Amino acid sequence: MPQTITMGFDQYHEPPEELSQDTRTFARMIASLTEEAEAINWYEQRISIEKDKQAKAIMENAQQEEFKHFGMDLEFLLRKKPKWRETLQSILFQQGDIVKLGEKGEEAAE
Ligand SMILES: [Fe+2]
Repeated sequence: MPQTITMGFDQYHEPPEELSQDTRTFARMIASLTEEAEAINWYEQRISIEKDKQAKAIMENAQQEEFKHFGMDLEFLLRKKPKWRETLQSILFQQGDIVKLGEKGEEAAE
């Protein structure tokens, strides 16, 4: 994954010593999810302008890895937050209007 330079503890919005181990892990995984999404975006932009076929193929392969990383991070988080999973079950991998699916997902989690 391409590297970004960030401060070490940016993922915390509350004093880390007051957060449980589980909440700190959750925060790290949210940070990872964000980084994987950024990497997908960066590769998307690079791929769109790359003229060298071999370089483009390598970047596409790398982006595929980021899809997997994003998916694993998301699955970890959803296992920790059943309501989040319930909401997404109505939205993801469905056909039809996304806004309507979102409203259905919101109802499902209430
Ligand atoms: Fe990654």
